[in-house]
Amino acid sequence: MLVVKMGLLLPLFTVFLFFSFSSAELSSKAGVNYGQLGNNLPTPAESVKLIQSLKAERVKIYDANPKILHALGNTDLQVSIMVPNEIISNISSNQSLADSWVKSNVIPFYPQTKIRYLLVGNEVISSTTKETWYNLVPAMRKIKKSLKDCELRKIKVGTSMAMDVLQSSFPPSNGTFRSDIAIPVIKPMLQFLNRTKSFYFVDVYTYFPWSMDPLNIHLDYALLQSRNVTYTDPVSNLTYTNLFDQMIDAVIFAMKRLGYPDIRIWIAETGWPNGGDIDQIGCNIYNAATYNRNIVKKLTAKPPIGTPARPGSILPSFIFALYNENQKPGPGTERHFGLLYPTGAEVYGIDLSGETPLSEYPPLPKPKPKNDKPYKGKIWCVVANVANKTAIASALSYACSQGNKTCDPIQPGKECSKPDSLIRHASYAFSSYWAQFRAVGGTCYFNGLARQTAKDPSYGHCKFPSVTL
Ligand SMILES: *[C@@H]1O[C@H](CO)[C@@H](O)[C@H](O)[C@H]1NC(C)=O
Ligand SMILES: *[C@@H]1O[C@H](CO)[C@@H](O)[C@H](O)[C@H]1NC(C)=O
Ligand SMILES: *[C@@H]1O[C@H](CO)[C@@H](O)[C@H](O)[C@H]1NC(C)=O
Ligand SMILES: *[C@@H]1O[C@H](CO)[C@@H](O)[C@H](O)[C@H]1NC(C)=O
Ligand SMILES: *[C@@H]1O[C@H](CO)[C@@H](O)[C@H](O)[C@H]1NC(C)=O
Ligand SMILES: *[C@@H]1O[C@H](CO)[C@@H](O)[C@H](O)[C@H]1NC(C)=O
Ligand SMILES: *[C@@H]1O[C@H](CO)[C@@H](O)[C@H](O)[C@H]1NC(C)=O
Ligand SMILES: *[C@@H]1O[C@H](CO)[C@@H](O)[C@H](O)[C@H]1NC(C)=O
Repeated sequence: MLVVKMGLLLPLFTVFLFFSFSSAELSSKAGVNYGQLGNNLPTPAESVKLIQSLKAERVKIYDANPKILHALGNTDLQVSIMVPNEIISNISSNQSLADSWVKSNVIPFYPQTKIRYLLVGNEVISSTTKETWYNLVPAMRKIKKSLKDCELRKIKVGTSMAMDVLQSSFPPSNGTFRSDIAIPVIKPMLQFLNRTKSFYFVDVYTYFPWSMDPLNIHLDYALLQSRNVTYTDPVSNLTYTNLFDQMIDAVIFAMKRLGYPDIRIWIAETGWPNGGDIDQIGCNIYNAATYNRNIVKKLTAKPPIGTPARPGSILPSFIFALYNENQKPGPGTERHFGLLYPTGAEVYGIDLSGETPLSEYPPLPKPKPKNDKPYKGKIWCVVANVANKTAIASALSYACSQGNKTCDPIQPGKECSKPDSLIRHASYAFSSYWAQFRAVGGTCYFNGLARQTAKDPSYGHCKFPSVTL
């Protein structure tokens, strides 16, 4: 049986070699985003052990923290590091600054630490000034040149983009980049990615479009859990079975529209919040586990599944995030994307290698949380953390200085002035501030000093303003 004609074997062998080479560089295994915006997180050395215990193959950090890069040395983890947004403009006009960044942040750790990806900035279009947008690609070019001059050709240079760089993403075939950035920023970026055989790094969360339109988008469609909901794009005729594929294909069609149909996609972030605020929908352990288990299974499948526009393509990924990070600003979901609690304990069972069959994961806590539908009722905003009285006093005076008559009722002699308690007064001020400003983006957070509550804090004649949903 082993007598196979050489002529047949050779091409087969060549094909095989080619595949194993390309998969050494690019495998479909998932990695994890190691964000560090917490004041209670494990050390880098402990974190590396935890990352390995999740069976991640890669890790992405949001800077080039030397302690972390050192801790990742002599492991098999492929590493993605990041040039901070703040220095992009300076690097864009100064090759020697790019050189010195590479010299201090890459060279000391390479090759013991397997640095493979270098992202210039994080969601630059979504979070910086226009000046930085236009400087992005020049900075990427300078960093690439520095790496090349140091013979570091294995390191791909990219930048991460959120979905808000698209002006249209529906139907997917209508995917189009925003007109203000398409020509000045995106097109040169795609040209750079094409020339350097790099990737379009995309942050993609089905959670956000679903949470903004839960009546029209089926939750299971966003969780990659649907067996019966499909959507057929009327122009491409491609049929979708989940929202993730739709979003990725919108990016692919947008790139195609600018003349770059083949640039590979890298999922720089994806995930689902395991908790959040009362006024946020669907953020719970149950949905987070379902989404992350399903997405890991899809992204690590062999052979690769791809998307309807690119069937069979490999989508390398970083799941967001390693930890719940207690110092991330914004709504509560922002602090609840972790696979792990800051103690290192798993929020739910997850195996990033994708080898654990879905049926073998430990069961999820019961009963299933009730926040899959929008909350209906009143919510107040009260003091969450009483530890730092100085911080509470300054948050109180900030809240009271905003808006109209925000704090009248806690002035001396008014209905909420007694008892003369800093905590009660601050809770009043937070509720009053939030009731006035929620509609225009005001949050109940105050640097972690405040939290939402569905329990009315009013007492006696003192009625606290509320938000009604
Ligand atoms: C950028 O360069 C200018 C001029 O050299 C300097 O003043 C500034 O501090 C630099 N900015 C950063 C973020 O390094
Ligand atoms: C460029 O960067 C180098 C190295 O950091 C610095 O010494 C120099 O002043 C910078 N040049 C300009 C014009 O900012
Ligand atoms: C396609 O995208 C454009 C904007 O790029 C938008 O104006 C148009 O409404 C979209 N078409 C559909 C069918 O949604
Ligand atoms: C799909 O099935 C789910 C339950 O399995 C059901 O709630 C939903 O209405 C169905 N959707 C469609 C479009 O049939
Ligand atoms: C989609 O299907 C329609 C009707 O079957 C056909 O006319 C059209 O050419 C198809 N479009 C593509 C892009 O295949
Ligand atoms: C780069 O663009 C050329 C021309 O469109 C295309 O043939 C090639 O496949 C592209 N390469 C990558 C990596 O996108
Ligand atoms: C308390 O908050 C103040 C003002 O926000 C801050 O300067 C101070 O460092 C905090 N104290 C402690 C012990 O955290
Ligand atoms: C305060 O009230 C006045 C009059 O009702 C209104 O014009 C103004 O916009 C309010 N200011 C704020 C910050 O809400």
